[in-house]
Amino acid sequence: MSLKTAIVRQFGKPSGLIGGLAGHIMARRSSNRIRNRRTVELMDLKPNSRVLEFGCGPGLALALCAETIGKGRIVGIDHSPVMIRQAKQRLAKAGLDENVELFTGGIERLSDLAAPLDRVYSLNVIQFINDKADYYQRVFNILATGGVCFTTYQPRLDNDNPNGAAQMADRIEAEMTSVGFADVTKTKISAGETPAICVSAIKQSASYNASQP
Ligand SMILES: C[S@@+](CC[C@H](N)C(=O)[O-])C[C@H]1O[C@@H](n2cnc3c(N)ncnc32)[C@H](O)[C@@H]1O
Repeated sequence: MSLKTAIVRQFGKPSGLIGGLAGHIMARRSSNRIRNRRTVELMDLKPNSRVLEFGCGPGLALALCAETIGKGRIVGIDHSPVMIRQAKQRLAKAGLDENVELFTGGIERLSDLAAPLDRVYSLNVIQFINDKADYYQRVFNILATGGVCFTTYQPRLDNDNPNGAAQMADRIEAEMTSVGFADVTKTKISAGETPAICVSAIKQSASYNASQP
């Protein structure tokens, strides 16, 4: 196996030395930096926003959020201890860790958090989550009414073409609306060869009634 393949295989849960290297590559790669910056811009954060990144990796986007949010709340979750360590180091080094909470864990961790939150986002994580409906249901539950969920996806490997991005965006839309999200928006993010798509949708009311129009 080539080093490149070994590194790409780590993206789902970086561990050990190669996992650490994968985290450094995510943090430095210019196309990934653009995707992170653009996704954070789309969230239109305010100084008191309460925001969560699921699958925060090395903490690139968390640092961008922390630059905007003053007295708000920033939460990062990742099931890789190596990534949580890198995110912690990145935020501390930049002096941006004051309002940041970092947790090692998976989607079950979402339900333990003090809610509500205004924004929940993920970047290149949804492809690794098997039960997407469960993920979106838990996100719906912790969002405030009027809160927004963002999911950015960059197609990779055998899916790396505009069709791959569009198909995943349609699937994300279907999963989100099935748990009650509304007002779906799809935004193309041009970075690297194949554009990524950010799908966002709003929690318009506290509970979802499928029988209502
Ligand atoms: C490709 S990396 C993206 C990292 C970061 N969002 C970025 O764009 O730079 C995917 C990250 O999601 C995490 N991840 C994948 N599946 C997860 C799950 N089920 N629960 C928690 N974290 C997960 C991985 O550990 C990894 O850090």
